[in-house]
Amino acid sequence: MTLIDSLSTLSFTPFESRWISPSNIAFVKYWGKKGQQLPANPSLSMTLKECVTESKVSFLPSDNLEVSLFLEGSRQDSFAFKIKTYLQNLGFDRLKVHIATKNTFPHGAGIASSASGLSAFALCLTDYLYHLKGKTEDQEFMQSASHLARLASGSACRSVYGGFNVWGESKISHDLYTSQLSLIHSDFFHLQDTVLVIDEKEKDVSSTQGHAKMGEHFFAEARFIQARNNFDKCLRALASGDIESLGQVLESEALSLHAMMLTSPEAFTLLRPKTLTAIEMIWDFRRQGKLPLYFTLDAGPNLHLIYPESYKNKIYPFIQHELAPLAVNVIYDERGEGPIRC
Ligand code: PMV
Repeated sequence: MTLIDSLSTLSFTPFESRWISPSNIAFVKYWGKKGQQLPANPSLSMTLKECVTESKVSFLPSDNLEVSLFLEGSRQDSFAFKIKTYLQNLGFDRLKVHIATKNTFPHGAGIASSASGLSAFALCLTDYLYHLKGKTEDQEFMQSASHLARLASGSACRSVYGGFNVWGESKISHDLYTSQLSLIHSDFFHLQDTVLVIDEKEKDVSSTQGHAKMGEHFFAEARFIQARNNFDKCLRALASGDIESLGQVLESEALSLHAMMLTSPEAFTLLRPKTLTAIEMIWDFRRQGKLPLYFTLDAGPNLHLIYPESYKNKIYPFIQHELAPLAVNVIYDERGEGPIRC
C-alpha cells in the first residue's frame, strides 16, 4: 500500500511544508527505462552538499486542480504545468498548490535541478499526505518520498538520502525507490565534486527523449549488462576505498552514456569540443602526476571532477589554472548529508 493508494477517501485541508533538497550526480547511470518510470538497470549516485533547492509548498482545498510555481520570485508556467500533470496522474483533483522555490546553483550548470527540485516537491507532498492521513514521520517517510519523487523524475528519487544511494533492481536495491548505502570507506566521506561548466545552454535533447531512444538502441542490452557490472564494481570500490577502480567506473559510465547518444538510431551529441579537450587534459594530468582526479558527465557537456578531499591542495591548482579557463563557471561541491526540513 503506497501513500497515494486511497486519495479519493481523503478530504483536503490547508497545509504548508518546506524542504531543502540536494541534487545528486550518478556514478552509475540510469539511461533507459521501462514500465511506469522504472529503470532498465540499477544506478548509483552521490548526493551533493551545496547544490540544493529550497521549496515552500502550500496546499489548499479547491474546486479543481490548480498549480502555480515561482522560481526565485518569477512565475514559471511551464514548470507549473509539469507539476500539475504529475499531480493529475497521481490522482489529485480539487487542490490548489502554490510552490515558491529557489536553487543555490545556476540553471544549465550541469547540475540536475530536476533532481533537487522534484525531490524537494515530493518531500513536501509526502509531508502533506502524512498530515492528511494523521501519520507522524516514521521510518517509511523517506521511502515514500523517494517513491513519489521517482514518478516525477527518475533521478530525483536518489536525492532523498545523503551520501551514496542505489536505485533499480539488484541484490541490494529496488526499482520503486532508492536505498542508502551504508558500507562506505572513510576516504570517501568528503569526496569532492567540482563542476566545470563548459556550456550553460539548454539541452537540445531532453533526458526523457534520451531514455526513449534506448528502447530501440542496437547496443541497449550490452549497455545494461555493462551498467550492472559497473554497479557491482562501484559498490566494491566505495566499500574498500579503491579510488582507482571508482575512477574507472566513473569514466566508463560517462563515456558509455555519451556513446549511447552518438550511436542511437537518430544520433545526437551533447558533448562540446571543450568537453573533449578537458577530458584529454585530465588523462594527461593523471599520467604525469598519478593524482586521483577523475571525471563524470551527466546528460550534457559539463564535467563533474571527482577526487578525494585529501588531494584537494594538489588538485586545485590544476583545476584553477588549466581547466577553469575552458569553463564559463566552476562550482565546488562535495558529498552531502541529504534533505533538511525547514
Ligand atoms: O531522471 P532523468 O529522467 O532526468 O534522467 C537522468 C539521466 C542521467 O542524469 C543522465 C543519469 C542519472 O542516472 O542521473
